[in-house]
Amino acid sequence: MSSPYTIQVLSIFTEYFESPLATSITGKAIEKGLFAVEPVDIRAFATDKHKTTDDVPFGGGAGMVMKPEPLVAALEFAHARQPDALRILLTPQGEPFHQALARELSQAPGLILVCGRYEGVDERVIDGWIDREISIGDYVLTGGEPAALILIDAITRLLPGVLGNVCSIDEESFSKPSLEYPHYTRPREFRGRSVPDVLLSGNHKLIADWRRAQSEKRTRERRPDLLDNHRDSND
Ligand code: ADE
Repeated sequence: MSSPYTIQVLSIFTEYFESPLATSITGKAIEKGLFAVEPVDIRAFATDKHKTTDDVPFGGGAGMVMKPEPLVAALEFAHARQPDALRILLTPQGEPFHQALARELSQAPGLILVCGRYEGVDERVIDGWIDREISIGDYVLTGGEPAALILIDAITRLLPGVLGNVCSIDEESFSKPSLEYPHYTRPREFRGRSVPDVLLSGNHKLIADWRRAQSEKRTRERRPDLLDNHRDSND
């Protein structure tokens, strides 16, 4: 069997990933060998007695900067194991993460995700050893670890066999970006609130039309930017 889609994650807190990756769909898919996540401890590449990974910024200012030596040693270790993998730094300065990028990265030959900490990473590391910088949103986290988890989740659910329900991914890939229609399950009546009649009608065409209309209405009301962006990308 060829080796599965592999993601190496470089971090100074590799234990951060243990529980989320062992849980639910992700945990089962890893167990089945559908993909692999391999944490790489950056601190293990520090050579001084205290295993230092940060230092004060040249030019002064608040906060600390990730030192180049241990981080580059960790990157070289990961790159030697997976020479074709894309090296990605998680940072608020990166390009915004979205569904189309998740799809693109799910087709890469593998990933090396670098979780920054402190104020940031020495720029020379980015210049020499990073292919792409990605942000998960316009807010600042204490480190790249939660962002790496989000990428891992969004990307690996697109890999063959992970979700089981191929149909739901096909719908996402070929339809324009839009919000989901409302979902309901049993009971029909819950604390005085009932399920819309159309969903109980058994008329598949009516149900599909209702869902499409609900999806469009929600998108228009809550995320009109998605409709604008789609129009832009097709112009
Ligand atoms: N590290 C800190 N904040 C981040 C963000 N918003 N996206 C990606 N990595 C980050």
